Amino acid sequence: MLARLEFAHLPTLLEPLERLSEVLDGPKLWVKRDDQTGLAFGGNKTRKLEFLLADAQAQGARTLITRGAAQSNHCRQTAAAAARFGFDCTLVLTDAGISSKVAKHAEASPQLRTDKFESKDLSGNRLLDHLFGAKIVWATANDCESILTSTFNISRDKGEHPYLIPYGGSNELGASAYAYALKEMLDQCSGLSQFSSPPSWIVFPSSSGGTQAGLVLGAEMFGYAGRILGISVDENRNALSKRVSDLATAAADLNGLSTKFESENILVNDHYVGDGYGVISMVEREAIYLFARMEGILLDPVYTGRAAAGMIDLIHKGFFKKEETILFWHTGGTPALFADQYREFLTSYDSAK
Ligand SMILES: Cc1ncc(COP(=O)(O)O)c(C=O)c1O
Repeated sequence: MLARLEFAHLPTLLEPLERLSEVLDGPKLWVKRDDQTGLAFGGNKTRKLEFLLADAQAQGARTLITRGAAQSNHCRQTAAAAARFGFDCTLVLTDAGISSKVAKHAEASPQLRTDKFESKDLSGNRLLDHLFGAKIVWATANDCESILTSTFNISRDKGEHPYLIPYGGSNELGASAYAYALKEMLDQCSGLSQFSSPPSWIVFPSSSGGTQAGLVLGAEMFGYAGRILGISVDENRNALSKRVSDLATAAADLNGLSTKFESENILVNDHYVGDGYGVISMVEREAIYLFARMEGILLDPVYTGRAAAGMIDLIHKGFFKKEETILFWHTGGTPALFADQYREFLTSYDSAK
């Protein structure tokens, strides 16, 4: 068994989406509420961080360092976990989602990359990073890897004992968390009279690939025969399915299995990436309103809004059979709803109809 700190609120609820299923008139829909995993509004990173923090503690680390977009849920949850377990935390944030004016300024003046930008756009996840006391280092999409490396080296040289948490928490350790999450879901289904067999499909947003790799590994470990469909948030299908299969193979190895996963068996749909990461359009907004008004469930603008939009479109197109069951795995992200950059577009929904 892999070492794990237990702080997630598990098992997360498995709930039927009755009103949404009826209005979409397709297969029966269920939701797995990983937006309620605990740790600063929950989300899929809580499960991964249980394993990553156990490893950080075992290595005697005192500082957690990771990277993500300005509104990264992964960074927010890492900052919260750091606070909870007494680590310092440094986040290397890229300019995705902050104004181009601020980003240009950061590029021109690298020395201003830290504190001067702390006060800009403190909304959504950024506000929470601030509350948790994380130190922020700004980077651009082009230099974030080198800035991450130099941030790590500086911290190490200062004797801060840094531990690098990978992008999205997605290495073999973080991904393993979702193999156990799949087992949790199977156990729940076997105790529910509505499930004569587990759901035919699991649908969810996929980006750094750790969640999908873990689910795919879990299917192998615990005998799930349904299909695991990642809706890509930002990456093309070939690149993402390769990343997922490599990660699943590495996670299998870590768990004592010699299974080699092939990318052609990984189901990724990249038709919904639109204008790219974090760029919300009408389809995500429609999905957010549908879940909110039919089920009282909040999706986020970047990940679950996009995945739900894809799932709804696929239902409309008859991709799923009516007698099938779909489990929408809600991976969290709710604080991004409160980011300034989305307010105007989100609130203009009713007037746009
Ligand atoms: C809310 C949310 N959903 C889904 C994902 C994607 O998960 P993964 O990076 O494991 O593919 C993320 C990643 O940051 C996320 O924040």
